[in-house]
Amino acid sequence: MILPEQSKIDPKAWKRTHSCGELNKNNIGQTVTLMGWVNTYRDHGGLIFVDLRDREGKTQVVFDPEISEEAHLMAHKIRNEFVLAVKGEVISRGEGAFNPNLKTGEIEVRVNQMKILNQSEPPPFNIDDHGEIGDDVRLKYRYLDLRRTEMKKNIILRHKVCLLIRNFLSERGFLEVETPFLTKSTPEGARDYIVPSRVNPGKFYALPQSPQLFKQLLMISGFDKYFQIVRCFRDEDLRADRAPEFTQLDMEMSFIEREDLFTLIEDLMVHLWKEVLGIEISKPFPRYDYNEVVSKYGVDKPDLRYGMEIHNLNEIFRNTEFKAFSEVLSKDGKIGAIKVEQPQKFSRKNIDDLEIYVKSLGLNGLISIRFKEENQIQSSLGKYITEEEVTLLKKEMQTIPGDLILIVAGNSEKVNEALGQLRIKLARTLNIIPEEEYNFLWVTNFPLFEYSQTEKRYSSMHHPFTSPVDEDIPMLDNNPYQARSKAYDLVLNGNEIGGGSIRIHRTEIQQKIFDLLGIKHDETVQKFGFLLEALQFGAPPHGGIAFGLDRIVMLLAGASSIREVIAFPKTQKATCLMTGAPSEVSPEQLKELHLKIDL
Ligand code: AMO
Repeated sequence: MILPEQSKIDPKAWKRTHSCGELNKNNIGQTVTLMGWVNTYRDHGGLIFVDLRDREGKTQVVFDPEISEEAHLMAHKIRNEFVLAVKGEVISRGEGAFNPNLKTGEIEVRVNQMKILNQSEPPPFNIDDHGEIGDDVRLKYRYLDLRRTEMKKNIILRHKVCLLIRNFLSERGFLEVETPFLTKSTPEGARDYIVPSRVNPGKFYALPQSPQLFKQLLMISGFDKYFQIVRCFRDEDLRADRAPEFTQLDMEMSFIEREDLFTLIEDLMVHLWKEVLGIEISKPFPRYDYNEVVSKYGVDKPDLRYGMEIHNLNEIFRNTEFKAFSEVLSKDGKIGAIKVEQPQKFSRKNIDDLEIYVKSLGLNGLISIRFKEENQIQSSLGKYITEEEVTLLKKEMQTIPGDLILIVAGNSEKVNEALGQLRIKLARTLNIIPEEEYNFLWVTNFPLFEYSQTEKRYSSMHHPFTSPVDEDIPMLDNNPYQARSKAYDLVLNGNEIGGGSIRIHRTEIQQKIFDLLGIKHDETVQKFGFLLEALQFGAPPHGGIAFGLDRIVMLLAGASSIREVIAFPKTQKATCLMTGAPSEVSPEQLKELHLKIDL
């Protein structure tokens, strides 16, 4: 209903005509209305300059008493973060006064009318400050933090990425289908967030760690090509690339082989990098066996932007008299090495620090060999290294004078891990990572199971619905823990950005995997009975993958943590500093849910 007074107001009078990021010299002479926040305020005696900011950018607006005395007077009341509406004429700033760093840097708006739409308390930090603002303050006042140009860019980028993904997949016949949040636990390796059910006393839902089982059920329903940009919940230790609630691009397809999926995903990644960064990524992406990456790079998500691969020196030192090495060889261990090229700035102290680090990973020590002119070396191995070994080492490691070789010996897994970490650490210290490069790779043929030393049991390396490699299926009966799986990860610059597998679609193999995992029959029925039953109704061969959307956007944005690309993230302790979640609930709520707190 329109009230009589309202009907008298010209509704167009204060309608925004442009955003603060779009005016340029083509608009000169036009009368415009802008609305936004006061980014900066400068009083130059006669003239007052304000940078007005909104989502799209900043525009300089000028209050000149000769244009409007009233607006100029009112402008004296303005403070940072006040919300204004201004009307005025677009004029050129004049040659010499252009600001090349601003999209709108050639023009300004001369204000002839102004309204203060709202005032603001002085903000706890200067919005336009590029300096260090403490994380706690940023998260407590996230709505202000999101006003910062960098954050706005990241959130807009995230939207763009989601849109590109949705369009790309829709054009290729994928349907986005939502799946429940109030559901049953899916084993993705973390703890569940659980939700009590009021109407089913004593019973709980689990928030999904991923939509894994639902997407498989959608394949059984015949949906064929599914995707979803979906929130997942995992109660696990948090890091820069891990959040308790994060977003996956989740996908599943029927009647496909691994290579079909790889081709589609490579096309998607090439498309994203082209559209967002204008970068041509070449495909196909290299494929590596899990065993190969672990022995060469010490991790299952290697950064291929730099070399420093791990070499196995076992054969070179097969007849060594150096006890630490011969003992390792007799125990089937590994003597591993990496080459640091020309580390001129590397002192004894640097090497000692690395040795402390290696020891902290549970190894005995670090041996260094510095190659000098001719066959001369300087090494902590001293007289224990023969001339022949030096020659072989030079050949294996392709050294030139000045290079440094770092050697670690011990249990193979530990050696790989230590040298893998050392490789990363050294690359950062020596500043040899080409930041502008994007090196994708697939890691395949993961082991089906892994042994947990802490829990003293086997678990699925990916998840229990992952199919074994065809030729390894007979091994399930006699040597199951050596079997390989049809799981794969997509890795980019040292980050696992996605992981998936071809699934088991036959009940008897799925049942066998549950048995091998030591899941009792009752538990299997209780937890996964619906899946085992569904597999009996004509489940098609299927497979899929899920990507960490936050990680993809983080890498596209060049950000250091996924928190930089999530609008309202949690802290490392899974709390929200802005809302105060998690928090206590009232005794009435607990009673309704039949819960008692026992701290
Ligand atoms: P997975 O557990 O490997 O597989 O997860 C897929 C991808 O999700 C991202 N990711 C995370 N990102 C941020 N914070 C976290 N806590 C977090 N945990 C995982 C990673 C990871 O590669 N259902 C299977 C997929 C499938 O088999 O199709 C799954 O969830 O980038």
